[in-house]
Amino acid sequence: MGSVFENKRTWEDAYPWRQDGEEWSACWGSARAQWHGCILPRIFPLLRGRVLEIAPCHGRWTQFLLDHAESMIAVDLSTECIAYCRERFRHAPALEFSANDGLTLPTLADRSIDFAFSFDSLVHVEADVLASYATELARVLKPGASAFLHHSNLGEHHRGWWDKLRQRRSGLPFNTGWRATSVSAATMRRAAAAAGMSCVQQEVVPWLDNWPRNIDCFSTLVNTPGLPCATLHNPRFMEEAEAIRRLASLA
Ligand SMILES: C[S@@+](CC[C@H](N)C(=O)[O-])C[C@H]1O[C@@H](n2cnc3c(N)ncnc32)[C@H](O)[C@@H]1O
Repeated sequence: MGSVFENKRTWEDAYPWRQDGEEWSACWGSARAQWHGCILPRIFPLLRGRVLEIAPCHGRWTQFLLDHAESMIAVDLSTECIAYCRERFRHAPALEFSANDGLTLPTLADRSIDFAFSFDSLVHVEADVLASYATELARVLKPGASAFLHHSNLGEHHRGWWDKLRQRRSGLPFNTGWRATSVSAATMRRAAAAAGMSCVQQEVVPWLDNWPRNIDCFSTLVNTPGLPCATLHNPRFMEEAEAIRRLASLA
C-alpha cells in the first residue's frame, strides 16, 4: 500500500503518537496482554541471543523482547522513532538503535543475529521491501538462525462480492489496515527462497475488523535453504484476541 517514502512520511509526520502504539493493542486488552498471550507463545522457542527488531516505532515490543535477549539492535526507517527509543530505553545498555533507509541493514555485521523479529510494521511494506529485507536477513542471521515476520497477505485477496457488501453496509474501504497489496504468504516464501533461506512456517490470519478475510501472515524463516513450509490458516485469530482480552481484564 505504501512506498518507503509514504511509510516514512506517515510514521514520522502524520501519526499523532499519543499512546506509543498501545492503542493498537486494544483488542487484546493491552500491549502486555498481547505480548504474553499472542506473540510470545508463537516465538519463545526461537527468542534468544542477539536479537534484531525491524521497525520498533516507539518500542511497544522492544520493551518485552529485551527481557529475553542477551543483546539487541532495533532498526527503523523513522529517525524520530529511533530518537524516541534511544531516550525511552537509555537505561538498557545491551540495546542499540539504528535508523535505516527502509530497505537494508548496513549497521549489522554478517552472521551476527540469532533471532530477527518484526510485528505490526511490515504489513505496510510492499513486495520490493520484503525482498530486500529477506536478502539482508540471509546476510545478518547466523546460519540456521530464525526470523519471525508479520506481513500482509492482502495480495491473496481480490475485491469480491463480500467486500462490496461489507463496504456498502459499513462504509469501510477494502483495505482498512493500510495493508500492502502486492504481498501474500506466497510472496514471502518466494523472497525467502530467492535469498537462500527457507520459510518453514506460516500462519495466515484475519486482523481486527477484516474478518473473514485472512489479510495478514506470520512467517517464520530459517537461514538454511530448501526446507519445506507448513501453513496454518487460522480464521479464529481474533477470537483468540478476545479470549486474551477477557483474561487480561481479570488480572
Ligand atoms: C505501525 S508502526 C508499528 C511499530 C511497532 N512494530 C509496533 O507494533 O508498535 C510502523 C513502524 O514501521 C516503520 N517502518 C515502516 N516501513 C519501514 C521500513 N521499510 N523499514 C523500517 N521501518 C519501517 C515505521 O517507521 C514505524 O516506526
